[in-house]
Parts: sequence; structure tokens; C-alpha cells
Amino acid sequence: MCVCSFGVGNFTLKETKRTHPVKLAVDTVKSGIVWGVLVLGFWPLLASADQTYQEKSTGESVVGAAATVWSGVYSDDQAKRGQTVYSATCSNCHLDNLRGDSVSPSLVGNAFISDWENKSVRALYSRIISTMPQDNPGTLSEATVLDVVAYLFKANGFPSGEKSLESAREAQEIRITREK
Ligand code: HEC
Repeated sequence: MCVCSFGVGNFTLKETKRTHPVKLAVDTVKSGIVWGVLVLGFWPLLASADQTYQEKSTGESVVGAAATVWSGVYSDDQAKRGQTVYSATCSNCHLDNLRGDSVSPSLVGNAFISDWENKSVRALYSRIISTMPQDNPGTLSEATVLDVVAYLFKANGFPSGEKSLESAREAQEIRITREK
């Protein structure tokens, strides 16, 4: 009798011990579902915030999916700053007239546009920030590279505008084209 009740007691104890972790696991799954719902619930919000940004910038004449380098996407001041950078860090290879030599490609004229036509300004920006200057890549800041890009645009005859080219993100929305 005594042994039996001990056994029952022991069994009950074991059961309580066993249900506890199970309950914990259920709670974990429950909170996982709550998090999942939260993340899923916020996802459209995040996505729409992104879209709002894009729509906003499209509305602002200079930038937009259809913007090209012919719509005045950099300022003269910016190109001037870019020229200073170019003279200090690029001209030793691409030369002062930007025409390059047998090793370094020309950054103006037909050679330039043939390589970059129909690509985004971001692509050019990325190429420069990740591989140039060839003897010391990865040393230029985003702002510096945007200035250099402005100078390359000036040198290629693309018109300047009121606003500077302000971010790599903005550059994503502008296409390099041969003509207007
Ligand atoms: C040490 C020499 C050197 C320096 C300095 C240098 N470049 Fe270059 N650049 C090259 C060479 C060589 C290539 C082609 C081979 C390669 O991509 O590495 C090139 C390629 C490029 C291209 C791709 C051209 C195309 O049409 O495909 C761009 C754009 C460019 N350089 C811009 C710059 C800018 C801007 C700077 C200054 C911030 C710079 N480079 C500094 C040597 C140099």
C-alpha cells in the first residue's frame, strides 16, 4: 500500500516534470507564431515604405526610373570637386585628358559610352568604388566617387543641373544613354 502510493506519487511527480518542458515547447512555438505573424504583418509595410521612397523620387523631376544622364543629374560644383579627385587619384593612369593609354581605358567618348550605354549610373559607381584606383582600390568614400562620376559626366558632355548626384541609391535610378 505504502509502496503503491509512493509509486503513484512518484509517477505523478514524473508526469509534472514531463509536462513542464512540453508546455515550454508549446509556449516557444506559440511565441514563434506570434513573431512570424508580426514579421509577416510588417513586411508589406516595409515594402510599401520602399515603394513610397521610389515613387517620391520619381516625382522629383531629376531622379526616376526613366531618368537618364541627359536630365541634369549632377551639379557643376560637384564636377569641380570630382576633377580635383581625378587629378590626384586617376589621371596618372587614365591621363589628364581622360583618354587613357594602351593599358588604362579611355573614360570619355565612344570607348566610354560603348561600355556603359544602357547601364545604370550605379553600375559605373560600383565599378569605380570597388576596383579603382586600380593601385589602391576600396579607398574612396561614396561621396568622393559620386563627385568623380559627376566629373566623368561633365567630360562626356552630359549636362549639369541644379542638384548634385547625392547617393548610390539615387544613381540606381539613372540610366546612361548615348543620346537624350
Ligand atoms: C594604377 C592605374 C589606375 C588608376 C590610378 C586608376 N585606374 Fe581606372 N582603370 C585602370 C585600368 C588598367 C583599367 C582596366 C582594367 C581594370 O578594370 O582593372 C581601369 C578601368 C577603369 C574603368 C572602367 C572603364 C570601362 O569603360 O570599362 C573606370 C570607370 C575607371 N577605371 C575609372 C577610374 C577612376 C575614376 C579612377 C580614379 C578614382 C581610376 N580609374 C584610377 C587603371 C587605373
